[in-house]
Amino acid sequence: MTVRQVEEHRESLRDPERFWADAAQAIDWDRPWDRVLDGSNAPFYRWFPGARLNTCWNALDRHVAGGRAEQVALIYDSPVTGQVGRFTYRELRDAVAKLAGALVALGVGHGDRVLIYMPMVPEAVMAMLACARLGAVHSVVFGGFAAAELATRIDDAKPKVILSASCGIEPGRVVAYKPLLDRAIELATAKPSACLILQRAAQPCDLVAGRDRDWREAAAEAAPASCVMVAATDPLYILYTSGTTGNPKGIVRDNGGHAVALRWSMENIYGVKPGETFFAASDIGWVVGHSYIVYGPLLAGCTTVLYEGKPVGTPDPGAYWRLIAEHGVVAMFTAPTAFRAIRRDDPDGTFIRQYDLAKFRTLFLAGERADPATVQWAERQLDRPVIDHWWQTETGWPIVANCAGLGLQPVKHGSATRTVPGYDLCVLGPSGDAMKPGEIGALCVKLPLPPGSSPTLWQAEERYVQAYLADYPGYYHTADAGFIDADGYVYVMTRTDDIINVAGHRLSTGAIEEVLASHPEVAECAVIGVNDALKGQVPLGFLVLKAGAKTDRGVVAAEVVALVREHIGPVASFKMAMVVERLPKTRSGKILRGTMRAIADGESYKVPATIEDPAVLAEIGEHLKGGGFGTGA
Ligand code: COA
Ligand code: AMP
Repeated sequence: MTVRQVEEHRESLRDPERFWADAAQAIDWDRPWDRVLDGSNAPFYRWFPGARLNTCWNALDRHVAGGRAEQVALIYDSPVTGQVGRFTYRELRDAVAKLAGALVALGVGHGDRVLIYMPMVPEAVMAMLACARLGAVHSVVFGGFAAAELATRIDDAKPKVILSASCGIEPGRVVAYKPLLDRAIELATAKPSACLILQRAAQPCDLVAGRDRDWREAAAEAAPASCVMVAATDPLYILYTSGTTGNPKGIVRDNGGHAVALRWSMENIYGVKPGETFFAASDIGWVVGHSYIVYGPLLAGCTTVLYEGKPVGTPDPGAYWRLIAEHGVVAMFTAPTAFRAIRRDDPDGTFIRQYDLAKFRTLFLAGERADPATVQWAERQLDRPVIDHWWQTETGWPIVANCAGLGLQPVKHGSATRTVPGYDLCVLGPSGDAMKPGEIGALCVKLPLPPGSSPTLWQAEERYVQAYLADYPGYYHTADAGFIDADGYVYVMTRTDDIINVAGHRLSTGAIEEVLASHPEVAECAVIGVNDALKGQVPLGFLVLKAGAKTDRGVVAAEVVALVREHIGPVASFKMAMVVERLPKTRSGKILRGTMRAIADGESYKVPATIEDPAVLAEIGEHLKGGGFGTGA
């Protein structure tokens, strides 16, 4: 039997330029490319050099001109405010053009950076598209990050303007964004010249005279701006993601390759046709929100759903099913953690059966490992294909998937199925040799990466090389380990760096350690990710206090929990820290985090031959049995 995904994959690697030139026909270009792929500056590759286009034009204006003006482009569904709003392509285009005009009035133009720190409201989507319209580079920062994290991103991106809102709404509490923004600007060295602030009824805020402007007033007064054509290789956005230190990596996305790849992915990976409704339950602060709430569905002429709520509790575990039924969703994308939460609250699927899901065809899961028990539960309850697929902020779209648009293949639980066309995925051993089928190694993609993948890090080319290209010359190193079986099915097992995945959110344990180490009584610390039934993983901190430390151990533990919330933000879900006498180390002083994780998760482990003092492991075990975590409460 021929498998179309396998054939297309082979074709995409045999003649990548032809493959992607064909896909690029689905995009409107102002000027064609000189060549499809420029490899003259390897290992840096550029797709579609010479071409000019505008991403906002392709996401909005072309659909208005092409017969979709009255089709709904964006549905805003917000159980936390009790609102549902709909914007046709024409309405969204007009609102974006006005907002872009307001940005022009603030001096924003091609290449300027604009930072967006917003809750899940339609204006956040408009903000991204308004930047794209002007050829300005947006950088969206997730609302669950604290002021210090925001300040780091302001200093790196140096935005001319910041777009924000008075508040976000989490179940049971209003999160005042404005004080966080004010504090971040105070902490940052690079000051924006202006801020546009969206006042929300739940909690309006004060504006800083001379710097802040009221969003609605500014947009109402502005003259609509038209699309500025930019080079295909110009940056569309920067999205910061956790690196191995406290300094996040500024993932850069270009305009041309991104538009081509996302447009292609909507039909071929997600099996969604223009005019259909797609729902990605994520946040615009993450790559899933960028690619599959905003750009992918709109580039494809679909209707996209922007959901300001949670999978459970807003008001119940039937929230997703209500959305699917009410808005005619054909395919949905979320993280497995959301399904673990729904399963916990509705184990028998009682809520699922209250809704008419006739139009719903496929559920896609990504962002963390999809545990087979959750996938099987979802399959049983929904009686529809449940597709695990694997990708990263860096790639911007899936590397491994069961491509719904190319004919679904049999599922093997635990595997995200086969490599997606465009990616030459290999499993490499420590010396760079290809591993045999079934053998675990580093998951690497042979260069060049396909269009849409990050061509570099924002103003940090050398860091890009060191982080991704140096370990295996000629390959992009994903920092995930896994294997490919004899049928070509890919199994993604674990990260090989210090990144952990908490409720689908990517966090660096190194960054949390930096915060713990800043406590005056802490001499040494280690943070590991331990298994959690709901969030997949949660961080756990171990602290060694300075000799003669005066503060009570429980108090220090609680204080570091509060510090992490203050410095990184609630998104870190850092609620557990404990004081120990010593940390287990090798004779060369390396902390044995992997062994500590195995002890915490109750797994069997080998005492490493290089350990300095094996007795420390038993001490750690005793501490974990005894509990005594600081909770910060
Ligand atoms: N602004 C401000 N605070 C935010 C926030 C935002 N946009 N998003 C989350 N937070 C806060 C939460 O209120 C919570 O605070 P708390 O410690 O005071 O309770 C904290 O950050 C942790 O949030 P979260 O990890 O989302 O946990 P939760 O307990 O609130 O919810 C789930 C658990 C499983 C319901 C939730 O993680 C979820 O919906 N996941 C869906 C998956 C997803 O969206 N993944 C994104 C990548 S695809
Ligand atoms: P992010 O950049 O936040 O999207 O996180 C990317 C990381 O999440 C990957 O490198 C993996 O470690 C993990 N991840 C994402 N999707 C999957 C998946 N389907 N299976 C296993 N791990 C995944």
